[in-house]
Order: sequence, then C-alpha cells, then structure tokens
Amino acid sequence: MSNRTALVTGASRGLGRALAAGLAREGFDLIVDARDGAALEAAAGALRAAGTVVTAVPGDVTDPEHRAALLAAAQAAGRLDLLVNNAGTLGASPLPALADYPPDELRAAFEVNVIAPVALIQLALPLLRASGGAVLNITSDAAVEAYAGWGGYGAAKAALEQASNVLAAEEPTLRVWWADPGDLRTDMHQLAFPGEDISDRPEPATVVPAFVRLVTERLPSGRYRAAHLMPREPVSS
Ligand SMILES: NC(=O)c1ccc[n+]([C@@H]2O[C@H](COP(=O)([O-])OP(=O)(O)OC[C@H]3O[C@@H](n4cnc5c(N)ncnc54)[C@H](OP(=O)(O)O)[C@@H]3O)[C@@H](O)[C@H]2O)c1
Repeated sequence: MSNRTALVTGASRGLGRALAAGLAREGFDLIVDARDGAALEAAAGALRAAGTVVTAVPGDVTDPEHRAALLAAAQAAGRLDLLVNNAGTLGASPLPALADYPPDELRAAFEVNVIAPVALIQLALPLLRASGGAVLNITSDAAVEAYAGWGGYGAAKAALEQASNVLAAEEPTLRVWWADPGDLRTDMHQLAFPGEDISDRPEPATVVPAFVRLVTERLPSGRYRAAHLMPREPVSS
C-alpha cells in the first residue's frame, strides 16, 4: 500500500517549507510546488536528504496546466491524503488603501489566493474522497479584522475562508480546515512592512506543531488559529 501523501503549495520558503518539513517528519510523502524552480529544488533536496519521498513540480498555481501537473503527480503517487493551499500573495505593496487599489492587482490577488486554491481542490477532490483526506487552507487574521491597507489581501483571504466553510458543509467525509498562522518572519511579511525590522516575529517553524496537531488528531472541520492550536492548549475554532 502506498504511503500517505501531502501536496503543499508554496513550499520553497516561509511557512510552506516549514509545513512540508513538519509533514515529512510525520511520515508523509510530499508533492511540493513554487514558481522558482531552483529554490523549490533546494527545499526538496533538503527533505530528500532527510529520507522523504518528494516530488517537486515547479510552476504557478494560477496556471491550469501547472495544477493539472500537480494532480498528475498525486495520481502517480497513488493517493492524496492532504492538500495544503499555502501559496499566496500579498497583492500590491506597499499596501494601498482600497480607494487606490489598482483593480488589476486586486484581480491578481484573488487569482492566487482564492481561484487557484479552489480550482486545485476541485481537481484533488476525487483522490481526497478516496482516502478520507483533508484540505488545509492557509488564511489570515486579515480575513476577519479591518486593518487599513489590507483590504485587497484581506478580502481575498475572507473569500477563501467562506469557500472553505461551504466546502466543509458539502464534503462531510473530509476534513476542511482554514487556519490563521499568525504573524511570521517571512518574505511576504517583510513585503507588508517594507523597511521595517520584523526580527521580533516568530519563525515559521514555531507554528508547525499547531498544524501537525490538526492532521494527527484529525480535528473537526473549521476555522483555527495556530496560536490556539499549539499542543497542550485548549482548542477553540
Ligand atoms: N507571514 C505571515 O505573517 C503570514 C500571516 C498570515 C498568513 N500568511 C499566509 O501564509 C502563507 C505563506 O506565506 P509566507 O509568509 O510563508 O510567504 P512567503 O515566504 O512569501 O512564501 C510564499 C511561498 O509561496 C510560493 N508562491 C507564491 N506565489 C505562488 C504562485 N502563484 N504559485 C506557486 N507558488 C507560489 C513562493 O515561491 P515562489 O515565489 O517561487 O513562487 C513561496 O514558496 C500565505 O498564504 C500567506 O498569506 C502569512
């Protein structure tokens, strides 16, 4: 029987890379993507060196052909147990007020943060249903809080949250989690605060135990915050 397999988008750096490493430690085989093939291969190589079976598929999640290639990798693996929609974009930077948000940049933010993950879920559903698998969509507190300047990104993440919510109702045999990781020291976070020192933000690896807990305990479908999911703390969704 083939090994449990997880597909993690945006796994070349930041949270996605840390999540992929955490899932590898739990014994998952991995399918990973990112647009920069060299950075992706470096991340995949580190995981392989630790003994994990990794299929690296470079490409852009907004490209239907790339999404089809990700599905083909899952079919070749023989199963898919977990889809992590982690790849995302901040959108316009510096963050503009909605009054000034260029519509093309707004559309692009929705393409990466909403359309692509939902389209990938659509492709993956048959394999996920077959395995009784799970979907983890990485969202943000900007989906629910009114931070000035975060309207484009926040609206897209809010849309992803509600899509997740409805998917959970439509697919009761699966687990569907949508989760806010909290502020993390990553390239995207630096882009949101250009020129600022973000060294006080936690490293992505610090929140991985929270997400691993979702998977290993197969917690109910719903919205989670990593800060509330850290092991030994009460779960609230
Ligand atoms: N950092 C935070 O404070 C924070 C807070 C709340 C939520 N989040 C969410 O956490 C997730 C990860 O963010 P991060 O901070 O780790 O960002 P990051 O460091 O910028 O990493 C983003 C990853 O996604 C890949 N990616 C970006 N666009 C892509 C695309 N169109 N197709 C395929 N891969 C793509 C990037 O590689 P390439 O550039 O090579 O494609 C990279 O591997 C995002 O969904 C973000 O919204 C982050």
